Amino acid sequence: MKGIVLAGGSGTRLYPITKVYSKQLTVIYDKPLIYYPVSILMLGGIKDILIVSNKETIPMYQTLFGDGSHLGVNIRYVLQSAPNGIAESFILGEQFIGNDPVSLILGDNIFYGQLDFFYNALKRSSGATIFGYRVNDPDRYGVVEFDKSGKAISIEEKPKYPKSNFAVPGLYVYDNSVVEISKNIKPSPRGELEITDVNNTYLNAGTLQVEKIGRGVAWLDTGTPEALLQASNFFGVIEDRQGLKVACLEEIAYLMNFINKEQFEQTINAIPRSAYRTYLERILNEE
Ligand code: DAU
Repeated sequence: MKGIVLAGGSGTRLYPITKVYSKQLTVIYDKPLIYYPVSILMLGGIKDILIVSNKETIPMYQTLFGDGSHLGVNIRYVLQSAPNGIAESFILGEQFIGNDPVSLILGDNIFYGQLDFFYNALKRSSGATIFGYRVNDPDRYGVVEFDKSGKAISIEEKPKYPKSNFAVPGLYVYDNSVVEISKNIKPSPRGELEITDVNNTYLNAGTLQVEKIGRGVAWLDTGTPEALLQASNFFGVIEDRQGLKVACLEEIAYLMNFINKEQFEQTINAIPRSAYRTYLERILNEE
């Protein structure tokens, strides 16, 4: 299974926060936003990760993550010259994906809680799995409609009159045919290759699974300054209460056995003296 993090876009809706650097680098409590989606792929056991972004931001991600070897993963980068749509990731990532299935996560999507819904999707070998999450404001998202038996019957992108309260989060799992499907869809009226059109192709072929994510999982919004503050407060409360960090990539790499104890120590030694490093030293010694 390959993993893609789509982390470009213009981020204009958060101006001036995003005037200098991209939205996915804004801070959520104690780390850049993009750590959270990267952590989800790593927790799913995915070690080959492609970050898709624009030419201004790729160098910044390279500074953050390098080639990923300190985390025991292989991180590559590919340029998206303009925000031509989420589905373009699969075209840009064709070589990287090769013959494998692929999971895509949007670089501004945060999940917290029991991730079984994702782990189960990764086990399926064909078709596509997307998720449905109940929200108050479905018109801002892709919206999935279910029939009485719970089967998905339609998906609409940002509908004016949503047919349900179930939004489609920016986390998707596809078999290898997603590459060809993405090549064959046409840009929408807003000029983008829509992920919703990809999902509808699977839906029409009868190969789409839509799993509802329960209320015990948090899928947090990052689209407004209020949402960014709320997400920071959320993780501040949890990390302070438990004394454990969320989306701490070095810790996850160690716990997932992507790196051994010696490599973990080396990774820690390369981190400047900081609360983050002290935390990792504690994890190393607690064991
Ligand atoms: O967050 C979930 C929603 O994400 C889904 O419910 C929608 O179906 C899906 O279309 C998408 O909606 P958004 O309006 O949130 O998409 P947005 O254009 O904001 O892009 C999401 C992220 O992906 C954003 O951080 C920028 C990045 N992006 C987006 C596009 C279109 C790119 O890097 N390149 C792109 O071409």
